[in-house]
Amino acid sequence: MPSSIVILTGAGISAESGISTFRDPDGIWAKVDYRDVATPQGFAANPALVHAFYNWRRKNVLSVEPNAAHLALARLESAFPGDVLLVTQNVDSLHERAGSRNLIHMHGQHDQALCNACGKRSAWAGEMSLESPCPACRGVGHMRPDVVWFGETPYQMERIQAALAGCDLFLSIGTSGNVYPAAGFVREARSAGARTVELNLEPSQGAGYFDEAEHGPATRVVPRFVERLLQRAP
Ligand code: NAD
Ligand code: APR
Repeated sequence: MPSSIVILTGAGISAESGISTFRDPDGIWAKVDYRDVATPQGFAANPALVHAFYNWRRKNVLSVEPNAAHLALARLESAFPGDVLLVTQNVDSLHERAGSRNLIHMHGQHDQALCNACGKRSAWAGEMSLESPCPACRGVGHMRPDVVWFGETPYQMERIQAALAGCDLFLSIGTSGNVYPAAGFVREARSAGARTVELNLEPSQGAGYFDEAEHGPATRVVPRFVERLLQRAP
């Protein structure tokens, strides 16, 4: 049984819960130009559009449930407390709702807000607009979703890289391997000597860097992989 497991998830793990991915044929980027809603420049140019996009995403995320893949990862963590770190690119809260606790949202979270004036983060529910006051400084006109956009630095990168340097199993689930730094994690894990496994609907951009891969829907391949790990545990 591996003593230290790092798991990376992407939008694909939440697809079967009903949250669109980005780059599948019916993905978000087929409908919305990422430059309008996924860059600081887009927010500066049209904050109302960005608020509308995230208000819509927040409603979508809140209307769905964790699926068997989220629940299997929570089971793995509870079987090996302290040995499993889950790093997600997703801003939904499905991992927490499934029971995962040792979790990093490297791209932020849909239920957090950031004030561009005072820089403070706060929990956020419901609609957001430029009329929304910052819960910390009460300033109006500065609230944005606490989501990492292109050109911004993902959260807790030092903690993630330290975990990759010491892990002996790296699992990548439901991500296309399009976006860095997450797309490079498999190489960091390999150079640390970890066994690297991709569980995805189809080979990702980084497929060549993995020791093993199982392709299929996450709700099938993830529980099966976790059960095999648990059966081998002493
Ligand atoms: P995004 O900005 O990450 O998408 C940008 C798109 O443009 C991608 O196709 C990317 O390949 C390309 N791109 C442009 N500039 C790039 C650059 N400098 N480097 C690499 N690629 C670049 O989208 P977003 O704003 O992060 O999406 C909004 C949020 O919605 C994200 O944080 C995402 O995690 C979240 N989301 C979450 C879920 C979920 O929680 N399950 C599902 C879908 C989306
Ligand atoms: N089961 C498993 N994998 C799936 C499923 C499923 N049911 N459905 C889709 N997938 C896979 C797709 O084959 C694809 O490889 O999930 C992956 C989703 O890839 P993307 O849409 O690119 O999403 P993701 O990899 O999370 O994007 C990374 O890019 O847009 C930015 O910041 C955003 O966090 C996001 C980052």
